[in-house]
Amino acid sequence: MIPREIIDEIVYRNDIEHVIGSYVTLKRAGSNLNGLCPFHSEKTPSFTVFPATKSFYCFGCGAGGDVITFVMRAENLDYADAIHNLAQRAGITIPEDETGAGERTIPRKRIYEMNLAAAKFFRDCLFNPEYGSEAMKYLAEERGLGMTTIKRFGLGFSPNNAWMLTNHMHSLGYTDEELVTGFLCGKSKKTGKTYDYYRNRVIFPIIDTLGNIVAFGGRVMDDSKPKYLNTSDTPAFKKSRHLFALNFAKNHAAEQMILCEGYMDVIALHAAGFENAVATLGTAITSEQARIFAKYTKKVIITYDSDSAGQTAADKAMRLLGEAGVDVRVLKLSGAKDPDEYIKKYGKDAFRQIVGESKSGFDYKLDKVLAAHDISIAEEKIKAANEVCAIIAGYHSGVEREIYILSAAKALGLSREVLLTDVERIRRRMKRDADAKQSRDAVMAAKNLDNHVNRDAAKHIRANAAEEAVIGLMLIYDELRAEVANGVLDLSADDFMTEFGRKVFVALCELERSEHGFSKAMLGALFSVDEMGKLEQIEQNRRKYTKNDREVLVECIRNLKEEKNKSENQDDINFWLNSKRSKAREIKNKNG
Ligand code: UTP
Ligand code: MN
Repeated sequence: MIPREIIDEIVYRNDIEHVIGSYVTLKRAGSNLNGLCPFHSEKTPSFTVFPATKSFYCFGCGAGGDVITFVMRAENLDYADAIHNLAQRAGITIPEDETGAGERTIPRKRIYEMNLAAAKFFRDCLFNPEYGSEAMKYLAEERGLGMTTIKRFGLGFSPNNAWMLTNHMHSLGYTDEELVTGFLCGKSKKTGKTYDYYRNRVIFPIIDTLGNIVAFGGRVMDDSKPKYLNTSDTPAFKKSRHLFALNFAKNHAAEQMILCEGYMDVIALHAAGFENAVATLGTAITSEQARIFAKYTKKVIITYDSDSAGQTAADKAMRLLGEAGVDVRVLKLSGAKDPDEYIKKYGKDAFRQIVGESKSGFDYKLDKVLAAHDISIAEEKIKAANEVCAIIAGYHSGVEREIYILSAAKALGLSREVLLTDVERIRRRMKRDADAKQSRDAVMAAKNLDNHVNRDAAKHIRANAAEEAVIGLMLIYDELRAEVANGVLDLSADDFMTEFGRKVFVALCELERSEHGFSKAMLGALFSVDEMGKLEQIEQNRRKYTKNDREVLVECIRNLKEEKNKSENQDDINFWLNSKRSKAREIKNKNG
């Protein structure tokens, strides 16, 4: 365990405004700061930083907590790693023997080491003619990859043997539990024995921007199914937050990046000199990934497969990237199904040319609308104009709207003014809808958070309200927390009706009574990021009351005990009713 004083110092030295400000553009609003939430997509800011309480909360999605929780969420780290990250930021060294290694079941670092060892094993197999000659032939001849590319991407091969990797990893000291958690091994339900997850597959390591091998993809060399096996999410990996080849592409990304669908597309593009290409990991792009793009580049060129699935995915990518503030272009391939095939067929110069000619997201959409309607027919032309105006209305920048209105006017043979009037009308309606939706979403998100963080809340509405009040007061007022924890005020864990409330209560009391006393910074070690959000919500709600004192606390404790009694009485009644019923049944059975 990292000592409490060090954690407090780390939090103290990492000003929350400053840390969050490096991820989010914050604007001052009274004593707080507002910005667009980095954890969900929104257009009007509902993300708030409270410098006074050194905390943050998003009224849209319910994310909240202290600076540690923020880093846990933003960097996808667990508590201990977030502390290290913040320590580094502040230039604080944590003493070696107190780093807390080995406390968690399987530390992220252990998984990285394990993956590195596995990647070496796969690579050695590929380069060992006894195992890898067929795979090497596949990569070099069938896929046309040169040795430089194969080495650069760290490609490998998993032999057709169920225990080769398992045995090798055992010899290096990795346990079955570690291997299964890291998705290098599967576990037989029948025998409980572990076996190699990847067999007879070409292996693509997935490397994060810090150079850690976080996951693998493995492709068969024929037409068997599934074509690819991938690492599922592990404690060290979430596929919705990674992009294949970002480790290379990030250094060539300043102007633009290319987003494609497949590992092989990316590799072919890099080999042809397009080192700014990345791919999602077998899933449609997520808003988290869109925000990664926004961090590295201004413009993304989407080159999805020309089938309809690819086109639907392109539409989604366009929307999410647009929302993240990235300029989007779409590359339409003709004569080939994906970039890999295109480059093989027509060469890299042809590809460079079509990249240069790639259409803006708008032109691409305009073409689609025009292709769907015969605008020589009046009704069709009206439909097309309506669709185009709706598309234009979706752009935030007035300059962009003006440019698109001009080109749409030309394409449709209508005046700029009529289109402008329609676009403005649609925008007013969209704004109304968006405002309504955002407040609806906020209510829904709060409800959802309640539902999964505090499952019993809905069953015990009044008790839950009292519990939240008690917890809020205990979070805010040191003296009230001390009175409760030390038994001056009579309240015990048994008085709580929701499991979450009880858990929080116990944690607050135990921290209060611990050697070093209570510190908010320690809560992150005990609660998930979602639970931290809920705690922040409870505290912020409580702060809105003008009267918050011992008297209120006493009354809430009374309410809580009352509710508990009621439910116990109800339990007694139910018990009595049930026993009467079964008596009646007994008698009926006897007589019948
Ligand atoms: P593709 O089928 O387009 O594969 O799937 P590809 O990368 O172009 O591979 P080749 O050219 O056929 O060898 C695109 C991506 O979808 C994921 C992989 O990430 C793949 O790169 N995928 C596909 C899977 O995860 N599992 C599958 O079974 C198939
Ligand atoms: Mn392909």
